Amino acid sequence: MATFVLAHLSDPHLAPLPTPNAFELMGKRIGGYINWQQRRRHFHRADVLDRIVADLKAQAVDHIAVTGDLVNLSLAAEFAPARAFLARLGSAQDVTVVPGNHDTYVWSKRRHPQLHWADYMRGDALSPDVAPQFPFVRRRGPLALIGVTTAVPTPPFQATGRLGGAQLARLAALLDEHTGTFRVVLIHHPPQTKSAWRSRRLIDGDAFIAVLKQHGAELVLHGHEHCDLIRWFETPEGKVAAIGVPSASGTVGWKYDAAAYNLYVIEGSAGAWRCEMIARGLNDNGTRIVERRRVMLMGKE
Ligand SMILES: [Fe+2]
Ligand SMILES: [Fe+2]
Repeated sequence: MATFVLAHLSDPHLAPLPTPNAFELMGKRIGGYINWQQRRRHFHRADVLDRIVADLKAQAVDHIAVTGDLVNLSLAAEFAPARAFLARLGSAQDVTVVPGNHDTYVWSKRRHPQLHWADYMRGDALSPDVAPQFPFVRRRGPLALIGVTTAVPTPPFQATGRLGGAQLARLAALLDEHTGTFRVVLIHHPPQTKSAWRSRRLIDGDAFIAVLKQHGAELVLHGHEHCDLIRWFETPEGKVAAIGVPSASGTVGWKYDAAAYNLYVIEGSAGAWRCEMIARGLNDNGTRIVERRRVMLMGKE
């Protein structure tokens, strides 16, 4: 039986942060810059990300999904290094990206992910000279990778996401259209989160869950929380897992889970899927990348 291996990493928050000029720091970015200088730059480390990428590249992977927050403050100078990071992972044929809230941190850069990373987030049906549209679909092996955007500029001290009615309606139609494939929804924000994360939640998360419940999906992959999390949702075909992965650059000892990525080993066909998740990441003292756990999400051992 043919096996397809999908890797998922998220929230690299690429370092180093380019030095912003005074104009760029006006408005919302000043708070984010202070936060980066005082705290986040000690957590999101390039050397950790390098080790995660090296370990991932050593695996036999068919495709890589990246669920946003590639950059930090959406400075103009952050987008080209982020594109170089994607190229390090693989070609646009083999890597799929959806943006995160840090990729559209300010209003003036809300279109920058589509401008700079276009070929990594363009659906199969679009011609190469057309800007990416959401949601998009990319067929790879038995998979239909369906990418949505929740990345919207927000006021200071907020990191909420929003899909919007038009995107939700199109998502529902695409899930129906691709019934029978292994449908993987890629989204930056988690569908639900703890109450303390109210200022960072997906505003229309309940509507998103309602679409999953009615139209089905086989897997939902997200970032944003920087934690290793599995939540389950009912669909017409049974339970579906929404899985969050830690930041791919997060070091050990901060308030979030240390750097990791997940592999999904997928086999079978509609009604008889088998999907095992293998989580690989830093060990407890941050010295090595190890297999952290295996979870059978669909099918038998
Ligand atoms: Fe993030
Ligand atoms: Fe985020």
